[in-house]
Order: sequence, then structure tokens, then C-alpha cells
Amino acid sequence: LCQQQNFTAYFQTNQMIAFFDSGYGGYTIMAEVEKLLPDYEYLYLGDNFRAPYGNHSPDRIKDLSESAVEYLFAQGATLIIIACNTICASSLRHLQEKYLREPNVKNRKILGIITPTVEYAAQKVRGKIAVIGTRATIESQVYDIELTKIDPKVSLVSKACPLLVPLIEENWHKKPEAKMILKKYLHSVKTHNPEILIPACTHYPFMDKDIRRFMGKKTIVLNQGEIVANSLKNYLQRHPEIESNLKKSSIRNFQTTGDAEKFSEMLRNAGAKHILQVEKVVF
Ligand code: DGL
Repeated sequence: LCQQQNFTAYFQTNQMIAFFDSGYGGYTIMAEVEKLLPDYEYLYLGDNFRAPYGNHSPDRIKDLSESAVEYLFAQGATLIIIACNTICASSLRHLQEKYLREPNVKNRKILGIITPTVEYAAQKVRGKIAVIGTRATIESQVYDIELTKIDPKVSLVSKACPLLVPLIEENWHKKPEAKMILKKYLHSVKTHNPEILIPACTHYPFMDKDIRRFMGKKTIVLNQGEIVANSLKNYLQRHPEIESNLKKSSIRNFQTTGDAEKFSEMLRNAGAKHILQVEKVVF
């Protein structure tokens, strides 16, 4: 009986915040969240083996993300942040409807990153907004739809940049060839003189310096990770029933379906300090 009680207690308190992305990108969100909210336990899952998702059909992305969400809940995550614009665009509502409907899961949550970004952008600017993202995100027109809901007169230019995620997943993004491709994509965006640019793909902050340099001083480049971190902080303040169940600890777990060595090297290069161990997993 005692053992049973310990077991139950463990699962009641072992409730961490999980981030899911197709690959490395979601870490740019997690890093900002961790900076602002360092006292929770975090789990990161990157499906590097099957990345990029951005060239898949919406149905394929739904299937892949369903498996990931089921896997993360089974690991003890109670709050899953879909740290990927591509997955949010095609599957967020579907995942919420499928996994959060039953009454016995009321303290589980699946949150996306597009809504806070759109709300932030809409209140921040009056001029033109530029959005860059994967082919799936741009074709979904989710940013156009959501921004227009807030401001029907919003002026928007968007551009799919499908080659960038593969370059980042390959750790080639610092090479001159990658910078040349980025510049080519941004050239047409820049001719519209946007007031802000939304890098609507969580991989793009790996090329943040180049994006800022090519866009120039007149365009504000948003930091989606920072926006999501502030929005999550606010969410947890408004939802004590969720917050009080989250485990407070300095543990960070990293899991990838790809190469664990490459994963830790890549994140260390991106400034991560706490990566003790990366586990290769299958889901
Ligand atoms: N990081 C993902 C996003 O925010 C895209 C990655 C992919 O294409 O797999 O859209």
C-alpha cells in the first residue's frame, strides 16, 4: 500500500512542461521560457529523424504530432507547448479537440505559439507586417487569418522559405551558402519595407543575426520565444489550478528521434548550458 501511495504521489507531482518541435527549432522557444521561468521541470522532444515537417501535407503533420502528444502525456507532461508554427498551423485545434475533451484530463493542456505572436504583433504595429515561415505555415495562411481577425485592415506580406529548416537541421546555417539563400528569400520581403518581421518558424532564430542584418534597422524582427515566454508566465498566473500541479525542479530532459550527440552539440552551440544528457527515443 505504501509503495502504491508513493507511486501515485510521484505521478501526481511529476508533471512537467514539455516542448515539442519537428527538430531543433522549439529550443529557441524553450530557452526563452526557461530564462523567464527557471523553476519548473522541462522536457524537450525533437522529432529530428522526421524533420522537416514544413514540406509535409497537413494530414501527415497531424499524424506525426498525434504520436508525439500521446508520447509526451505518457511521459508525465501535463502542459505541452507545441513549439512549432508548422504544427500549430495545421494541427493545434485538432490536438486540443482530440486529447483535451474528456473530463478526466482537465488539468492537461496543449498550447500553441501563434496566437500570442499574432496578438503581440497586432498591438505593436500600424504599418506593414512581414511573415516568413515554412511552406506549410505560409500556405495555411494562418497568420493572415488571425491578424485580419484582430485588425481587418492589416497590411501583410508573407514568404515561404522552405530551404532554411533543412540547412539548420544540417547545422549548415552558418555557412556562406545558407546566408546567400536567406538573403535571396529576404530580398523580396525587404522591398515592401515592413515595419515588423515575424520569423514564424522556430528554427529561424538560429539565423537571427543574419535575419536582422539583412532586414536592416528599419524593420523590427520579433523574438517569438520571448513573446511566448511572457504569454506563458501570464497564463500560469491566471491558471493556478494548472500551475500548482507543475513540478518545480531544475531538471531539463532532452529527447530526440535523431542523433543524440549531434543534438547536444547543436544546442550547446546555440548557448544551452544545462544539457547534461540527450536521450534517443522512438515514438
Ligand atoms: N520549427 C518549425 C516551425 O516553427 C518548422 C520545422 C519544420 O519544417 O520541420 O515551423
